[in-house]
Amino acid sequence: MEDTLGRPRGPAWLPCYVVGSQVLGLAVLAITGAWMTHYRGGFAWEGSLQFNVHPLCMVIGMVFLCGDALLVYRVFRNETKRVTKIVHGTLHVFAFIIALIGVIAVFDYHKKQKIADMYSLHSWCGIITFTLYFVQWIIGLVVFLFPGVSISHRSRYKSLHVFFGVTLFVLAIGTSLLGIKEKLLFTFPSDYSQFPAEAMLGNALGLLLIAFGVVIAYIVIRDDWKRPLLPEEQALSMDFKTLTEGAESPGEQ
Ligand code: HEM
Repeated sequence: MEDTLGRPRGPAWLPCYVVGSQVLGLAVLAITGAWMTHYRGGFAWEGSLQFNVHPLCMVIGMVFLCGDALLVYRVFRNETKRVTKIVHGTLHVFAFIIALIGVIAVFDYHKKQKIADMYSLHSWCGIITFTLYFVQWIIGLVVFLFPGVSISHRSRYKSLHVFFGVTLFVLAIGTSLLGIKEKLLFTFPSDYSQFPAEAMLGNALGLLLIAFGVVIAYIVIRDDWKRPLLPEEQALSMDFKTLTEGAESPGEQ
């Protein structure tokens, strides 16, 4: 099926799921922001407010922007590979910078408040997730953006890149859930079971993070929603196949 401009139509339900994912993602950001401003006093780079920069930056960078970066190859179906690569890469540049600010904020806050580092399960998962993300970011930059890397290396690395991209996204959501739980237990050491409004907001944030992750994962794993190759990419991929698999031997049909 083609649209009025003669381009192939995308899958009918894909836009509904994409819009749904964005509504959930924006709700996650709004609730994190509301939690940190309404209940925790807002943001600053000093005193106790410095901590609040951490959750907001982590959910913007490692959850929302990384989730949207996963969607780029499903949403931009008729753009060239170059354009989709630039959008994907740009989202990851912002995601990385924002997440880095979030990590620096919490370490600096701990240092100033003389709180021990790296004692919790959340901090262990967090540092592993962030470090692997950094490694994936560097390898992705080199393999996909530097012109010297051969098509065969790119294509071999691609499946690993996709696997780690989805894995890191899942890890970021899991780590955020641990962080939310930890923050709520610090804030309500004895009265969490009294259903305080702030804690219920934190619980709701956790559920929304899971829902966002599930919808993004569903969009990404649907094989029939993958971006089809454009005609010029099809020709390139045929050339590559011929190069790597060789021409058929005379006996083969
Ligand atoms: C992918 C997202 C996240 C990552 C990678 C991450 C990473 C980290 C790291 C590495 C630390 C340790 C800092 C230190 O030891 O000095 C930390 C601390 C902390 N984070 Fe997160 N974080 C994330 C999301 C969140 C969220 C959403 C919350 C929710 C409020 C949160 C709450 C906390 C708390 C309360 C601490 C201080 C206690 C501790 O060290 O465990 N984090 N985070």
